[in-house]
Amino acid sequence: MSTPVRPPLKFVTFEGGEGGGKSTQLRLLAEALRKAGETVVTTREPGGAAGAEEIRRLLVEGEPGRWPADAEALLHFAARAEHLAKVIRPALDEGKWVLCDRFADSTLAYQGYGQAQDLGWLQQLRSQIVGKTEPGLTLILDLPVDIGLGRAAEHQRYERMGRAFHERLHAGFLAIAKEEPERCKLIDATLPIEKVAAAVRAAVAKRFRVQL
Ligand code: TMP
Repeated sequence: MSTPVRPPLKFVTFEGGEGGGKSTQLRLLAEALRKAGETVVTTREPGGAAGAEEIRRLLVEGEPGRWPADAEALLHFAARAEHLAKVIRPALDEGKWVLCDRFADSTLAYQGYGQAQDLGWLQQLRSQIVGKTEPGLTLILDLPVDIGLGRAAEHQRYERMGRAFHERLHAGFLAIAKEEPERCKLIDATLPIEKVAAAVRAAVAKRFRVQL
């Protein structure tokens, strides 16, 4: 007997390297969904809940080498555990859409591909912490590293980790997109904002069978 296919959770994550315009695209998608009568919660990682925002400060401020990479990965998952428990799962349980600026794929890309943490270990943590609350759709806003770093301000810790690091995580996001083509959609973030927004809406409409 075949197991019944669960519909994808109305949980959409925006991923990619620096400078891809994730926050703008998240806001535009939220507006489009609200116009269509949907209830939407917008949030971000690391952060999105009180304690997780405190952890965010520990991660995005200070010297690039301030944490051993395994401690850094665990801090991201600690923040994520609280965010899931206090914000994401309750909102999904109430039937709301959740749009999140970065999620667990960023840990795979940044701490795994970028900072050389074991991918199997990170996947194990992911399945323990995230469990069944995997995004229904992940939009990976893709653009060449040079353009992304040119757009980023180099104020925060990860933006100062060097070009080779950013090349590795870029390759990581492409690998993730290839491994999970149903959940992940690569979007060309070099296009003008409105074209990217249209591609985002089309991906959401197709995956969730909504009209946007
Ligand atoms: P952002 O919200 O401006 O993108 O900044 C968050 C930074 O944190 C970004 O540079 C990517 C990084 N990050 C990780 O390294 N691992 C993670 O799991 C997450 C969620 C973010």
